[in-house]
Amino acid sequence: MKIAIVGTGYVGLVSGTCFAEMGTEVFCVDVDTKKIENLNNGIMPIYEPGLEEMVNRNKKAGRLQFTTDLTECLNEVEVVFSAVGTPPDEDGSADLKYVLEVARTVGRNMTKYLLLVTKSTVPVGTAKKVRQTIQEELDKRGLDIPFDVASNPEFLKEGAAIKDFMSPDRIVVGVESERAQELMTRLYRPFLLNNFRVIFMDVPSAEMTKYAANAMLATRISFMNDIANLCEIVGADVNMIRKGIGTDDRIGHRFLYAGCGYGGSCFPKDVKALIKTANKSGYPMRILQAVEDVNDEQKSILFRKLEKQFGGQLQGRRIAIWGLAFKPETDDMREAPSLVIIDKLLKAGCDVRAYDPVAMDESRRRIGDIIYYAKDIYDAVVDADALLLITEWKEFRMPSWTAVHKLMANPLVIDGRNIYDIKEMEEYGFEYHCIGR
Ligand code: UDX
Repeated sequence: MKIAIVGTGYVGLVSGTCFAEMGTEVFCVDVDTKKIENLNNGIMPIYEPGLEEMVNRNKKAGRLQFTTDLTECLNEVEVVFSAVGTPPDEDGSADLKYVLEVARTVGRNMTKYLLLVTKSTVPVGTAKKVRQTIQEELDKRGLDIPFDVASNPEFLKEGAAIKDFMSPDRIVVGVESERAQELMTRLYRPFLLNNFRVIFMDVPSAEMTKYAANAMLATRISFMNDIANLCEIVGADVNMIRKGIGTDDRIGHRFLYAGCGYGGSCFPKDVKALIKTANKSGYPMRILQAVEDVNDEQKSILFRKLEKQFGGQLQGRRIAIWGLAFKPETDDMREAPSLVIIDKLLKAGCDVRAYDPVAMDESRRRIGDIIYYAKDIYDAVVDADALLLITEWKEFRMPSWTAVHKLMANPLVIDGRNIYDIKEMEEYGFEYHCIGR
């Protein structure tokens, strides 16, 4: 089977590579010539464990090709996946211009039956617009070629994307015809050996499933952050609460970690977009608005704690930061709490020294050299008045606290991910603060 995947971002590149790994012939398409040129030279646009090796292996085997020309491969493929971006437009709704552009190109150039599958996260009703767009183009050409549209939202997590794609919990597919269902079944059959389920449903439900999943997870996080903040006031420990409630099967252990807020390319954008959809539909979702508000505030919590420690006097203080990426195992800084914190620190007149194992180039690209990029965790804390832990990278878990203590001007550690032991930190002589404990 041959397929094309348009968009070589996280979702597109990972999906294309994993399909190729299972024997499908894949064309990965992107309008960004530089990106395609790089991929053809083995240079990855993103950092994702295991990706580079898998891309190169499948390229060598001839199953994976990179091109800027969708029209060229349209005649060869049976299925086109659209995995292009849906950035929030000015009012927070998902901007569909790239999604519809793919539909237009398909409608303008297709010569035989095609199934166009949307993998991008798109609001309910988008598949209908995609169908209309293709039909309009076919009408202009005076052609009556059969086609189908489908929705196949992606649930992969950055940093675990390959594993998530190769052995997912489930595959959600919204289809409108048996032919489309049969094609999607064929395509995903190799993955079925890993014992997961393909859940077929109608297209609007598939589109909604993705938003509901991300909104539910974001809700858990904001709920736990709210509980954590209350724990601090009433003298409880949110870690104990997490263990205490997570053992209830109905609640489960995962995604109950309080911290300095969720970031990334999905949760913030999808929560916003769902709020918009709800508002437009005349059913404002109060829960989601609260989820977003709590998260926005939580992103400044480390700064507020720091302010409190110094009685509001932050001018001229040197602050060390460990972790810039929105979470470990990625260089992604989209909506990262670090950006909010750094902005506040700089406005307050602080001198910021940051270290991240992989995201420092990304940070330079985003905010330039307005902060000092440290050589390692120890260089970051030299003469620092405080250390803020923002991302829980493994290499931050067991530093030599004796060395850190010696290097810092003032032994204050504020841990935004609750990864250190309170007693141990005190034994090392630190003033230690964390979230909800
Ligand atoms: C998420 C979804 O998990 C994935 O299914 C979807 O396809 C895309 O969005 P991702 O953004 O890669 O994936 O990261 P994830 O690991 O889910 O973490 C999101 C954010 O939530 C991070 O900022 C993380 O630090 C935060 N988080 C996560 C918490 O604060 N507490 C938790 O308990 C879990």
